[in-house]
Amino acid sequence: MSDRALLEVQDLCTYYGRSQALFNMSLKVPPTGAIAILGRNGAGKTTLLQSIAGELRPRKGRIVIDGEDCTHLPTERRAGRGLGYVPQQQSVFSGLSVRENLTIGAFANSDSHAIDQSLALFPKLADRLDQIAGTLSGGERKMLAIGRALLGGPKLLLLDEPTEGVWMGVIEEIADRLTNLRKNIALVIVEQHLELALSIANYVYVMDRGRISLEGPADKIKRSPELLRLLAP
Ligand SMILES: Nc1ncnc2c1ncn2[C@@H]1O[C@H](COP(=O)(O)OP(=O)(O)OP(=O)(O)O)[C@@H](O)[C@H]1O
Ligand SMILES: [Mg+2]
Repeated sequence: MSDRALLEVQDLCTYYGRSQALFNMSLKVPPTGAIAILGRNGAGKTTLLQSIAGELRPRKGRIVIDGEDCTHLPTERRAGRGLGYVPQQQSVFSGLSVRENLTIGAFANSDSHAIDQSLALFPKLADRLDQIAGTLSGGERKMLAIGRALLGGPKLLLLDEPTEGVWMGVIEEIADRLTNLRKNIALVIVEQHLELALSIANYVYVMDRGRISLEGPADKIKRSPELLRLLAP
């Protein structure tokens, strides 16, 4: 991984009303490779990704994408700066077909083969183009969400629990695609499946009650006794 950061989060504080959810979070994401964000339920992982994506407005701190301060940029303009986001919930339009979901994802993409590329990544979707997304299985829905986010041609893709509720065989398929993707773009992955997260990620941040409590290269974090303590219920 190079030293240059594609995403830099500096001193971020996000609140829900008067309740503070993120406390001075800082992290750096290089242009390629994968960063994993780990932490117990309620640690603030989704809040962090929503703040980076622009769905939540931080009260303090900065979000810099590719050298540009995007802290006050609306979500859709961040997409134009190369940011893709696969949210934990409602990641697809459940009332629309697979084809319609992909067509919307490809809206801003001038490459007419972009949808074919997403379908090549997840061939299971190609058999289900006319199926309503709300009737897809959990795994198929995650594939559609990732395939759709990739149609925006992101340089940086935020993935909030891409394998949540997904059967083991499909988890491996998703993990394999993410491992390939990280060669060319930057991934920030929130993942409950510890082994999987540590196998995809180069670098890991562990959150505890809205703060980063532990960080380091995945190989090092894997052996840290602190890790299990921070993830214990
Ligand atoms: N809309 C909201 N209003 C008030 N508090 C919220 C809201 N969303 C989240 N929170 C609180 O903020 C904290 C962080 O929540 P967040 O969803 O970011 O955690 P998480 O690490 O993603 O958890 P999980 O692993 O369960 O998805 C929790 O205490 C949660 O209850
Ligand atoms: Mg969450």
